[in-house]
Amino acid sequence: MLDQLEHVEQEALAALEAVEDSEALNAWQKRYLGKKGTLTLMLRSVGDLPREERPVFGRAANELKTRLEEAHQAQAQALHRADLERELRRGALDVTLPGRPTGPGHLHLTTQTLRQIYAIFAEMGFQIYETPDVETDEMNFGLLNMPPHHPARDMWDTFWIGDEVLLRTHTSPGQIRVMRERYPEPIRVILPGKCYRYEQITARSEHQFYQVEGLAVGHGITMTDLIGTLTEFARRFYGPERRVRIRGSYFPFTEPSIEVDMDCILCGGEGCRVCKYSGWLEIAGAGMIHPVVLENGGYDPDEWSGFAFGPGVERPAMLKYSIDDIRMFYGNDLRFLRQF
Ligand code: FA5
Repeated sequence: MLDQLEHVEQEALAALEAVEDSEALNAWQKRYLGKKGTLTLMLRSVGDLPREERPVFGRAANELKTRLEEAHQAQAQALHRADLERELRRGALDVTLPGRPTGPGHLHLTTQTLRQIYAIFAEMGFQIYETPDVETDEMNFGLLNMPPHHPARDMWDTFWIGDEVLLRTHTSPGQIRVMRERYPEPIRVILPGKCYRYEQITARSEHQFYQVEGLAVGHGITMTDLIGTLTEFARRFYGPERRVRIRGSYFPFTEPSIEVDMDCILCGGEGCRVCKYSGWLEIAGAGMIHPVVLENGGYDPDEWSGFAFGPGVERPAMLKYSIDDIRMFYGNDLRFLRQF
């Protein structure tokens, strides 16, 4: 019987050496050490031996079992190491390879457009002034002549941060901030920034977009100055061949109020979804500052007058570059962004 054990050991170790993967290793374990494995069966048959041979054989068989288990474990570790090395070799990094170049990138179309607008107004003597995106109800509406429950508030639904705090619907609250800071100086500023509205997103409307508020306060400023400034802006921004249309409108914070439209370059005036099939696209609201607003800013309306305007940024860019859907601006599609 002891000879048999020796034979089993030699055979098992030779077979173990030939094992090359975990599947074969499991099969080996089952064959020799499993429930019905060769060695297990031999250990179970100890009872069949003559009484005096049992202790010697039993000890030898148990020692062999321990040796085979150790050999199995060592082989398992060796296979694991080999697997790991193979894996590492396959995914090896060649750190000497030159890196993939990353291009320098460029400014987003909105930023480019903002900078063009800044440059044009700077040439006309306007300073740039920054005002906050998060505003109070009073600044966004109340001081702009829209007390609570004023029906005009319905034009500008927004995202509320608290009962009295909101994301501004337009850059107009900046008018009050600048006037209060600059009084009693005359003012000529633009106030660029992001605006927010709780409204349906369509080809021409986003729920976040930019505006560039303009504000001029002085002595003897008239509607002619406003129209002159806006048509000069349009001429410089779009080129002299494009058409501008000024029509009467209504804003609670200007009196009289106007709206500025540009001819729709997308359809050549024939009508499309961007211009709502009118051939014209509104780019700005404007007007003479309402006396109540001047007063709220600290300026006496009997002495001072002024104009304000508030063009968007994306819509003017759409009309300049023939973009037929405002959603392209913030859709993060590089194929679109790289064109500008
Ligand atoms: C206003 O927001 C007024 N504050 C403008 C103003 C300023 C009037 C100063 C008088 C004096 P309105 O809601 O029309 O007005 O928006 C002005 C411009 O913002 C629009 O002409 C358009 O260019 C842009 N705009 C408005 N809503 C959106 C929108 N959802 N998506 C993209 N652009 C928009």
